[in-house]
Amino acid sequence: MSDPRTVGVSVTVNGEAHRLDLDPRVSLLDLLRLHLDLTGSKKGCNQGACGACTVLLDGERVNACLVLAVSCDGQEVTTIEGIGTPEALAPIQDAFIEHDGFQCGYCTPGQILSSVALMDEAARGLPSVIDVDAPPCSAAELSDEEISERMSGNICRCGAYPGIRKAIHAVASGAASTSRVASGAAQPATA
Ligand code: FES
Ligand code: FES
Repeated sequence: MSDPRTVGVSVTVNGEAHRLDLDPRVSLLDLLRLHLDLTGSKKGCNQGACGACTVLLDGERVNACLVLAVSCDGQEVTTIEGIGTPEALAPIQDAFIEHDGFQCGYCTPGQILSSVALMDEAARGLPSVIDVDAPPCSAAELSDEEISERMSGNICRCGAYPGIRKAIHAVASGAASTSRVASGAAQPATA
């Protein structure tokens, strides 16, 4: 008999279906890290301030520390483990390396997921605080200021921001690789 203090949750993570019985207070971040052993998503502040825990939930970026796992029933989650593999990095991962977009690596999974979502949001014409009164721009037209604003939920304590912006510029100007991952599918990049 199942524990009456738990709630059944079905989630698909990086393309793999899971069914878990969880304490209803468990966050999505703890579901990933503690129950599925997917430790790529990092617990920084655990209160929505740093972005280290950013994942895609049905293709939209969320701070996993602020989301209750039970609220994700039936949804698809993409974590850094679903973005590429060490043998076949996604283009945005390649670009972070090429442009010195990360140093410690602790915040990088969240930065990568946020970058993927940012480019998808721009491609869909979703405005930011900066361009809310302007016509939507394409991902390829994102300015430094625009990228900074859209990435402002992701903190890098060592200050790799110029490299992160360059990496996003590099991939956004080629665009093709981003929407594929943002759709929630866990596909290693082959390009
Ligand atoms: S750990 Fe979730 S925002 Fe910092
Ligand atoms: S790369 Fe993680 S804090 Fe800067």
